[in-house]
Amino acid sequence: MKKRIRLHQLRTGMLVTEMEWDGSAGAAPELPFLISSRKDVDRLMRAEVISVVIDPSRGADVGGGGHAGGLSHAQFETDLLSKFSAKDIESARQTIEETAPHVRSLLSDVRMGETVKLEGASKTVDSLMAAAGRHSAALIGLSRLKEKDQVTFLHSLAVSALMIDFGRALKLDEETIHLLGVGGLLHDFGKMLLPKALLTKRDTLSEAERQMVRTHPLRGYELLKRAEDMPQTVLDICLYHHEQFDGTGYPRGLQGTDIPRPARIAAVCDVYEAMTTIRPYKRAWTQSEAIGFMLDSPGHFDPELLQQFVARMVVGGVLAA
Ligand SMILES: [Fe+2]
Repeated sequence: MKKRIRLHQLRTGMLVTEMEWDGSAGAAPELPFLISSRKDVDRLMRAEVISVVIDPSRGADVGGGGHAGGLSHAQFETDLLSKFSAKDIESARQTIEETAPHVRSLLSDVRMGETVKLEGASKTVDSLMAAAGRHSAALIGLSRLKEKDQVTFLHSLAVSALMIDFGRALKLDEETIHLLGVGGLLHDFGKMLLPKALLTKRDTLSEAERQMVRTHPLRGYELLKRAEDMPQTVLDICLYHHEQFDGTGYPRGLQGTDIPRPARIAAVCDVYEAMTTIRPYKRAWTQSEAIGFMLDSPGHFDPELLQQFVARMVVGGVLAA
């Protein structure tokens, strides 16, 4: 009998017959799909796949049986209310509402082919930097739930907030932290230059379509570069946020410390945010499942930064339960 399982349960030898994914990242292979290496699991993770259906009669099975797992929409609300005070949630909601017009105008500038204004991004990051501590954690928590038209906006905002908090946890100077925030906000803007139908497509993407989605870091970089005052750190984050520590990422296949550190920080925050995102109609990975998977992905992240993210953000920092 077929089983629905979560990505962290995937093992080499399993045959995937169905999958759900959020469409925007798109690296979904032809089905049925045989998991032949850890890299195959990584591919699904990058495509923001939430769960898959396997056929154990034709491939490997899970050890302890499949389970639905994760947070439902209703559990998400309860979880949020149990973690944060009403005041923190209200302040976070206010920050999101205040920054929304700025981010939406940046996104529409990109769609219209206009140059991104650094000043607009900087103002949003100033608001996020002012939202420290529990307020910031509540903002990241609130941003997990994404309605259809909020995906890019809330992902950009949450990655920016995560990078600011992580920068503080790493005890970087405020100027660098500000640049990390701007980079987090703008890192995926190249996606705005892709055909909308490609980003919202629910069927399996063809190889050509997958390759097209993978052009978003370079497209974003070229777009941001047109603004003369765009700092190098921001450009590096945009261009290299999909590079992997073992050299298997894109667009350049850079390895280890050849990947600029801000981009290695972005990779951790970007994947964490994408994995813990919840949709009204879908369960999301819990924080511990996401962290478990990231720790179990050798080669993807800078191991030292990932360890610091877990120690300073999840165990003892702003993301602590
Ligand atoms: Fe991206």
